Amino acid sequence: MEKAKLILSGKEYELPVIVGSENEVAIDITRLRNDSGAITMDSGYGNTGSCESAITFIDGEKGILRYRGYPIEELAKKSNFVEVSYLLVYGHLPSKKELAEFHYGLTHHSLIHEDMKKFFEGFPPSAHPMGILSSMVSSLSAFYPEEGFDVDVSINMIRLMAKLKTIAAFSYKKSIGQPYVYPRNDLSFSADMLHMMYAVPSEQYEVPEVLEDALDLLLILHADHEQNCSTSTVRMVGSSQANLFAAISAGICALWGPLHGGANQEVLNMLELIRNDGSNYKKYIEMAKDKNSNFKLMGFGHRVYKNFDPRAKILKAQADKVLKELGINDPLLDIAKNLEEVALKDEFFIERKLYPNVDFYSGIIYRAMGIPTNMFTVMFALGRLPGWIAHWKEMRETHGQRIYRPRQIYVGSKKHSYVPITKR
Ligand code: CMC
Repeated sequence: MEKAKLILSGKEYELPVIVGSENEVAIDITRLRNDSGAITMDSGYGNTGSCESAITFIDGEKGILRYRGYPIEELAKKSNFVEVSYLLVYGHLPSKKELAEFHYGLTHHSLIHEDMKKFFEGFPPSAHPMGILSSMVSSLSAFYPEEGFDVDVSINMIRLMAKLKTIAAFSYKKSIGQPYVYPRNDLSFSADMLHMMYAVPSEQYEVPEVLEDALDLLLILHADHEQNCSTSTVRMVGSSQANLFAAISAGICALWGPLHGGANQEVLNMLELIRNDGSNYKKYIEMAKDKNSNFKLMGFGHRVYKNFDPRAKILKAQADKVLKELGINDPLLDIAKNLEEVALKDEFFIERKLYPNVDFYSGIIYRAMGIPTNMFTVMFALGRLPGWIAHWKEMRETHGQRIYRPRQIYVGSKKHSYVPITKR
């Protein structure tokens, strides 16, 4: 086996090398501290592998994304969200029978306990739906407790996937003061979500196919993205053997931030800001380049992609299609396209390999679908759930999984003696 050599303070250490199935190379430093006393430093974990995983492959330089080996472009075109969820969680495309059983589970567990409705009542109307979502997911642990690490949690994984959309839709209804609409077992996953959001008791509501298809595509594109901030959080919390609901609730909180899933909401806020400023997008490109301005082009840049985010490519085409089919002419789409065109030719963005990411066009589609801005990240969470569950399951099934516990380099004061308050 190939080894890496490290020379530290004149002493040589041999470190094992791990090679992935796509020939990615890692230097295994697990024993480095024991052998040499040194740790490695990598703020933000930009160059640190935290696990071996068989779920998702990304080649950020080439703009490749595959779930369980299947290219995202093919899944987006030929599959649906329920099938992709099965693929991620169980590792293979389902047979007809497996898919039918999975779908049955996702529909027949979609009701939430009636007592949980009281929790929604306690939130002020201004509550952000991401806060509600994470609290509700955490409280599911009270209704479906897991006793012990060895307990079979497969039913809780299904329950969570089935119930998250009900919770998400209820949090929306709560925010607009409308009565909750219960899930329907005869609808597809995506149509059911939209039905629970848009139906009202006083009239018949049919989910338009264009909306159902658009949501299904968005959910597929968000379903997994290997060790991103929220997924790593799910693994981090799960590594302490906390229950599934606690780990996913933490993942939802991590996703909320504007540098992660919250960016889709921020993109829309930014586009609106630019429109209200006379659509002067060039001014905002200059601001994004100015290090003193604190302004970033939201929906641009990615830790892993140094090329086009393949999801953004699919969504750009989808945004055109959805807006055309719905007969919407959105000036924000024109601003987004102009920003992209100018940025891609600008030396600042070229040098730093900053391309539009998944959040750049998703917000425009959500907006055209009538989804309010503060629900965008909730839709992202709904899509990302099978990925989080797949990683949580993979980690739990890893023999000898240790608790996640990074080290640090201490840069604080050296030892002092305590000084009584009268002498300070
Ligand atoms: N606008 C302007 N400059 C940027 C941007 C941006 N959106 N993104 C990165 N840069 C610059 C950054 O200032 C730095 O410049 P310099 O080398 O001169 O200091 C350089 O590009 C490298 O950026 P970084 O901050 O070191 O990159 P990172 O890997 O730590 O951060 C990121 C990645 C996604 C957090 C960042 O690009 C960003 O803040 N983008 C905007 C927020 C966003 O769209 N987030 C959604 C990510 S995709 C959805 C998801 O999976 O979460």
